[in-house]
Amino acid sequence: MSRRIIPVADLSTAPVIAGPTQTPSGVLHDALARPLRDLRISVTDRCNFRCVYCMPRAVFDKDYAFLPHSALLSFEEIERLAQLFVAHGVEKIRLTGGEPLLRKNLEFLIDRLARLTTPAGRPLDLTLTTNGSLLARKARSLKDAGLTRVTVSLDALDDALIRRMNDADFAVADVLDGIAAAHAVGLAPLKVNMVVKRGTNDGEIVAMARHFKGTGAVLRFIEYMDVGTSNGWNMTEVLPSAEVVSRIAEHFPLVPLEAHSAAETAQRWGYVDGGGEIGVISSVTRAFCGACTRARLSTEGKLYLCLFASTGHDLRALLRGAASDAEIATAIAEIWQGRSDRYSQLRGSQPADPGEPGGRRVEMSYIGG
Ligand code: GTP
Ligand code: 5AD
Ligand code: SF4
Ligand code: SF4
Repeated sequence: MSRRIIPVADLSTAPVIAGPTQTPSGVLHDALARPLRDLRISVTDRCNFRCVYCMPRAVFDKDYAFLPHSALLSFEEIERLAQLFVAHGVEKIRLTGGEPLLRKNLEFLIDRLARLTTPAGRPLDLTLTTNGSLLARKARSLKDAGLTRVTVSLDALDDALIRRMNDADFAVADVLDGIAAAHAVGLAPLKVNMVVKRGTNDGEIVAMARHFKGTGAVLRFIEYMDVGTSNGWNMTEVLPSAEVVSRIAEHFPLVPLEAHSAAETAQRWGYVDGGGEIGVISSVTRAFCGACTRARLSTEGKLYLCLFASTGHDLRALLRGAASDAEIATAIAEIWQGRSDRYSQLRGSQPADPGEPGGRRVEMSYIGG
């Protein structure tokens, strides 16, 4: 029997526009005075990996019912929404998934999004998160379509370990080939994201740092998070970023670097010898909700205000219900203005999305990392 986890939790309905029309002014603040600046768009809920911390095979098995094609936002629908978000102040768009490179003809979408400019006339920072498995094949066409840069997930260099972690028999060499191809075509700065699970891959931290040091790639270590409900998260498997930094510094001295912006997820550290930089993303031990400017659009067009939300706002219903641009822009404004999410800051003291008793947090593969 087929089953899906997500809709069980998703109690959302189409947004109801309550107030007067709000014409986008290029800046929109939420209830905690955080501006809307980043939009993360999930283009597919499917992935060819089964990372143990994200899509464990026991849950995402052959019976798992992924979204049907008709449920997905079309490229035209995504472009239309993206335009409205940019008018409201979004400057960075990240395409995610699942694995975004599995979405057919993704280059067509990138080509459209790359033409958007901010109200001040600047091009967008247009990037993509990928597991790298198809990147060697696609790097050139992605760059030609107008992608600015790319972030590749890689959790280890040890082949046996990486195969255990992605549980899909993909080799490290495939991902490294993808990274090399992205470098070669100038998708820069290239970032590499490593999720650290204590007792699983923390033994790879120094090897990963050594490997990417001096290559121009920015390696970022992510604390294992309690996203979704299927990964069996446990605090004992979280390795605090402070320990990551100290383990690397024992081999390669580091100095803290200034943040590029207050909204940045990563704290930056530079190699004293000039070998580039690393980042640590400490959502568990040092929450960064205070400056969170990120909105997430799910594959089927629901707007989520937090990675740990259990409900979304159904923008697809507006798109397909013949709402005008002005109406959709107003709905987006009202939704963002009502936002007070800060799950990571509250972790431990209360459950996610307290407004929905029993609400189940959405999975990362659905909402987009
Ligand atoms: P850059 O613009 O390249 O710095 O990207 P980013 O760090 O904003 O995005 P990226 O997708 O590389 O984020 C890396 C990881 O940080 C994600 O995979 C998540 O694990 C985590 N992350 C990103 N955004 C958030 C967020 O808003 N909240 C939490 N708790 N974690 C986040
Ligand atoms: N904790 C931290 N990061 C995660 N990612 C996926 N699941 C988790 C989790 N539970 C990361 C992936 C990738 C991005 C899409 O999100 O490694 O870098
Ligand atoms: Fe796929 Fe990325 Fe999730 Fe791994 S972390 S299963 S590559 S979406
Ligand atoms: Fe933003 Fe929610 Fe992440 Fe906090 S937990 S940084 S509010 S997405």
